Amino acid sequence: MKKRLSEIEADGKTVLLRTDFNVPIKKGKVLDNTKIKKSLKTIKYLLKKNCHIIVISHLGRPKKKDKKYSLKPVEKELFRLLKIKKHKKLVLMENLRFHPGEVSKSQTFAKKLAGLAELFVFDAFGVSHHPAASVTEVPKYLPSVSGFLLEEELEKLSLALKSKRPSIWIIGGAKLDKVDLFSSALKKADKILVGGALMFSFLKAKGYFVGHSKYDLESVRIAKKILKKKNSKKIILPVDCLIAKDLKGKASIVDVDSMPNDSMGLDIGPKTIKLFKRHVGMVKTIVWNGPMGVFEIKKYAKGTNELAKKISSSHAVSIIGGGETADAVKKFTFTHVSTGGGASLAYLSGKKLPAVTALEKSYKKFRKLFS
Ligand code: 3PG
Repeated sequence: MKKRLSEIEADGKTVLLRTDFNVPIKKGKVLDNTKIKKSLKTIKYLLKKNCHIIVISHLGRPKKKDKKYSLKPVEKELFRLLKIKKHKKLVLMENLRFHPGEVSKSQTFAKKLAGLAELFVFDAFGVSHHPAASVTEVPKYLPSVSGFLLEEELEKLSLALKSKRPSIWIIGGAKLDKVDLFSSALKKADKILVGGALMFSFLKAKGYFVGHSKYDLESVRIAKKILKKKNSKKIILPVDCLIAKDLKGKASIVDVDSMPNDSMGLDIGPKTIKLFKRHVGMVKTIVWNGPMGVFEIKKYAKGTNELAKKISSSHAVSIIGGGETADAVKKFTFTHVSTGGGASLAYLSGKKLPAVTALEKSYKKFRKLFS
């Protein structure tokens, strides 16, 4: 069991708040502020409780201290969203990953961070699958609780695992590093729709020619294994796709059993879109991870967009994995769009998140301080 921020007395405390402010930045400007906006609920709550808040986060994967990875632009955006210039009870520290102890899980660094506050609030769902000093180690030294964003993510993502039937999982993207996700989907879903470059690994595994579509031998090997599993009949592969000689070439539609040697598949085709939409229309829960095609290029975004439109207008509970999928379907509304790419993948794959385990252990250790 872990404790939630809403269940404890936080009034007037000095709080160390771990957020995931790993956002895209260009020329000193935040390009997508979704993660910052989603953290406001916890920050505003703590301000209302008259707490002193020390916010900590990582940004990117810097090898050393590098201005390019500074959290300064995030600080500016945070204060803009809070509609304040400065707040004497709120500070955002510089990128945690400027310190080597963050990634190496240094106990000295964790103790130093813990020494800054009386309470640790963990709200960085996006990094909850990556053990680090500020994720799994600080809770060893400080009473720790979950923030509102973490709670929302866990609650909404759990709808995918305890889903109302019938349910479908849509799995796309490029790489078949999602074996555990498939194992979980084979257990939880009634049907699994496969799109994105991933479909070519499956088609290749079934003996189809896929031209020079994106696939790798390791993914094909994994696809073969998945196709041998009990329940693999649940997997529905595309029947047609959009192809071109290269990304800039002229696009045409072919059935998946007639792929020419000199072309590559770049999106699911119209028959597949129709087929997938029909499945979407029949279910009560939809879980989606990974785009259907090269959505960054308009002419190959149709599969992803059409499916997103259909899902957002359906009455089903729809759970969208973060990262690339969240990016691809930004203009549509769903039950839940996760703020964590790798973290939602880990959660949906049935893995226990190390950050949650650390919060549980912290509660056990500091139980007396909470009562
Ligand atoms: C993310 O954006 O997925 C999270 O911030 C985690 O970042 P990381 O993969 O660099 O740990």
